[in-house]
Amino acid sequence: MLSIIVAKAKNNIIGKNNKLLWHLPDDLKRFKELTIGHNIIMGRKTFESLGGILPNRKHIVFTQNPDFKINDENVQVVHSMLEIQEYIENNEENFVIGGAMIYNLLMPYVTKMYVTEIEKDFQGDAFFPRIDTRVWKEVSREKGMKDENNDFDYDYVVYERIKK
Ligand SMILES: NC(=O)c1ccc[n+]([C@@H]2O[C@H](COP(=O)([O-])OP(=O)(O)OC[C@H]3O[C@@H](n4cnc5c(N)ncnc54)[C@H](OP(=O)(O)O)[C@@H]3O)[C@@H](O)[C@H]2O)c1
Repeated sequence: MLSIIVAKAKNNIIGKNNKLLWHLPDDLKRFKELTIGHNIIMGRKTFESLGGILPNRKHIVFTQNPDFKINDENVQVVHSMLEIQEYIENNEENFVIGGAMIYNLLMPYVTKMYVTEIEKDFQGDAFFPRIDTRVWKEVSREKGMKDENNDFDYDYVVYERIKK
């Protein structure tokens, strides 16, 4: 099964110039706790924005470039939906971690979403798709902790698919 994990602004912005726009240490900690030991699926740009390989997670990286190779046993480079079918069908929780192109591509196959909703608009160039309330049901909402760098509010929200 696939689950999305994302942090998005009120206006659905998720990044700018291949970077995140905020620094939320608590959210990064939560990202680590949720994804550790799981497969993480991402686009080539998000992979490059990580600046390295995250420990204890297999990275599945989408690209259309046949020459893109990463020589690491924890990285699988994929070029088509066919190659990730096993992750859609198995009973493990496999995390789709972005960015915008890959959220759009895989959202139809996702059954659960962990969304950090930041209560502020940002200016950026990468958007998360609109969450259709006919398809997604909010099943939990928890207030995030403000930190020393940010004075905006945010919630950790979990959505489950209620319709194909
Ligand atoms: N806030 C968050 O939670 C969050 C999470 C992740 C990322 N982000 C942000 O999102 C932004 C990056 O998003 P993005 O949309 O620009 O890039 P992306 O989705 O990370 O990667 C896009 C790349 O994926 C490959 N790709 C896309 N569709 C494909 C398909 N159908 N088949 C094969 N390969 C495919 C292509 O790679 P090639 O060009 O190599 O062919 C494409 O250029 C950054 O600003 C990042 O910081 C935010």
